[in-house]
Amino acid sequence: MSPVPAYFLLAFLAVAKAATLCTNANIELVARIVFGEAKVETDQGQLAVAYTVVNRVAHPGYPNTVPNVVYAKYGCKYQYNTLDNPKHNAAWKVAKDKNTTEYKNAKNAASNALCGRLRDPTGCATDFCATDPCSATTTNKYYVAYNKTHIGNHYFVCRRRVSG
Ligand SMILES: *[C@@H]1O[C@H](CO)[C@@H](O)[C@H](O)[C@H]1NC(C)=O
Ligand SMILES: *[C@@H]1O[C@H](CO)[C@@H](O)[C@H](O)[C@H]1NC(C)=O
Repeated sequence: MSPVPAYFLLAFLAVAKAATLCTNANIELVARIVFGEAKVETDQGQLAVAYTVVNRVAHPGYPNTVPNVVYAKYGCKYQYNTLDNPKHNAAWKVAKDKNTTEYKNAKNAASNALCGRLRDPTGCATDFCATDPCSATTTNKYYVAYNKTHIGNHYFVCRRRVSG
């Protein structure tokens, strides 16, 4: 048996992962996050928020499925704050029932990220904040925040676990 080159396996795994993320159920979940966190943002700003879910799934410090990332909590609060907001839940239901432009934009951003159709404008961001600095954009004793990218009203950062 001849060994399969590592780069081939890695490329295969990357494609397999993108394919498994690209489902209607995942698109709907991520669209809810985009709608609640970024419905006033540009397409790029919405895409970047959608990519934070994809990047968390791939990151060792977060759960490894889309539903588990979306519904992850810090204590009793959702990590994606919009899910704790009853007005956002109600607005989402209306947008969905009426098939509004905001609903379609959120779904487009979600599917472009989950299906790998458009490039991640942040490269690797898992976190974002509307102010800078905030705890998400600041290095702490567990994580180094790096590669800050400012898009619209949000500051995005990538995070790497502090070694040692
Ligand atoms: C929502 O509108 C889009 C086109 O703008 C259409 O393709 C889609 O089928 C509509 N969905 C529903 C549930 O009406
Ligand atoms: C850093 O951010 C830029 C956008 O500001 C992005 O294009 C690049 O890919 C990111 N770098 C990494 C290492 O992901």
